[in-house]
Amino acid sequence: MGAGTRGQQVEIVVVDQGAFGEAALEHLLRATGGVARPVVGLATGNTPVGLYAALRARGDAAWIARVRPFAIDEYGGRGDHPCANRAYFASHWEAIPGAAAVEQFDPDAPDRAAECGRLAAALRAAGGLDLVVLGIGRNGHLAFNEPGSEAGSMAREVRLTEASMDAARGCWGDETPETGLTLGLAEILGARTALLLANGAAKAGIVARALEGASGPGCPASYLQRHPRAVVVLDTDAAALLRRGAGAIRRD
Ligand code: GLP
Repeated sequence: MGAGTRGQQVEIVVVDQGAFGEAALEHLLRATGGVARPVVGLATGNTPVGLYAALRARGDAAWIARVRPFAIDEYGGRGDHPCANRAYFASHWEAIPGAAAVEQFDPDAPDRAAECGRLAAALRAAGGLDLVVLGIGRNGHLAFNEPGSEAGSMAREVRLTEASMDAARGCWGDETPETGLTLGLAEILGARTALLLANGAAKAGIVARALEGASGPGCPASYLQRHPRAVVVLDTDAAALLRRGAGAIRRD
């Protein structure tokens, strides 16, 4: 199967940077609007900040209260560190009026393997993810599923790559964790809708590789080519290196 064939099920939406958060919100609502109690996996990082801001600006506390949010990953550092995902969710998600507390990994748990199992079991009991919001690492990681992760991988503690530690160093400095706790690709790709977000020129190369390159563990985001319902929202900079051309797939 060629890359083009594999990619046919991926819906790619390209918008100007100023419309990015709103476009991501539109696709989140489209995928979850008909679900009574949507179970949603949430990414952290710079990329989804506009989405969470758009959700807040929408001001629909009754709808947001219906969402059951799960973190997709956490750093293996102190849980009360200001750079932990827990702090990110407190300011970007839990500050949205009506939003429920995010169900998340506790990196301070005495047994992190058991902790990963606990969150995965809670997610299974909730019926799995209706939608997962994903960013993409510059090395193609999804959550903390680093290159080399298999499609069947489950929630676990992983060793971070140098690239991921470098990215974390900007916030964590000398306390940069060497590990992360992450949902596995099995749990993430099991989401009924996968919503991948990427913006900025620094992501253009890895976006092209993920969507148009070979699908496999070398670039975990490339597994989305095989997902039955993957939607990718890009800004024009992140879409710039797609062979099919941003102009051809632009929808606005
Ligand atoms: C982080 C997280 C991912 C995130 C990605 C991209 O390390 N583990 O969940 O999606 O890297 O981050 P950013 O959006 O800041 O580029």
